[in-house]
Amino acid sequence: MAPLTSLVATLALLSSTAFALPPLQRSAAPVLPVNEVGPGFPPPPPGASPVFIALGVGTQNYTCNATSLTFGSNVALADLYDVTRFINANTKNSITNLYLAASTTPIKNPLQLQHIGKHYFTKTVSGNSPNFDFTESGKGFLQAKKVASVTAPADAWAGLKGQAYGAVDWLYLVDNGAGVSRQLGSVYRVETAGGKPPASCKAGEQAFVPYAAEYWFYR
Ligand SMILES: *[C@@H]1O[C@H](CO)[C@@H](O)[C@H](O)[C@H]1NC(C)=O
Ligand SMILES: *[C@@H]1O[C@H](CO)[C@@H](O)[C@H](O)[C@H]1NC(C)=O
Repeated sequence: MAPLTSLVATLALLSSTAFALPPLQRSAAPVLPVNEVGPGFPPPPPGASPVFIALGVGTQNYTCNATSLTFGSNVALADLYDVTRFINANTKNSITNLYLAASTTPIKNPLQLQHIGKHYFTKTVSGNSPNFDFTESGKGFLQAKKVASVTAPADAWAGLKGQAYGAVDWLYLVDNGAGVSRQLGSVYRVETAGGKPPASCKAGEQAFVPYAAEYWFYR
């Protein structure tokens, strides 16, 4: 299908949803939307611009803690697309909402974004570590550790029907110092949609909760 045809088809498909469409023009240098969330979310160094912004679309994978019967630890698996040129002060969570909605349709990539990498976890000396692997696009590699998290804004989309347990926290992660990162030093996860687990679980249970987020990468 031609890009425009598929976009129109997706928009028709999604027209019953209330999501605003993202503007389709190139924006001025994007500004990290730290003001949308409460205190405790460290802003990037003054004047620092993101190297690029990736759209992550995938699944949060939770394992039930048999003691507390809550979904405690989790890992994630997501595709990463280059969304840099689409992000501006007005997009807010519209692109993450669009892609989470589109993930249930045949058209997974309505804006025809370039696939640039993968987000996954690997076991390291410090437990499960998040990786952002852009080897396929030459944009680097980041193995990170979480240094800050804050609840998503109240207007964030709680998630797909039947899995609307809330939008995952906004995060700030930095290189974990294991010596495997290249070109990238830190990342913010913002404008999240979906991804939180149910409030309780049975021993041995796993939950796979679809989510989308913007990942802003810095050197
Ligand atoms: C989900 O996470 C658990 C715990 O880390 C892991 O054992 C399992 O392989 C994961 N499954 C998938 C499909 O990612
Ligand atoms: C499971 O929950 C208990 C009680 O809240 C906690 O002490 C323990 O560290 C948790 N285990 C894991 C693997 O997170």
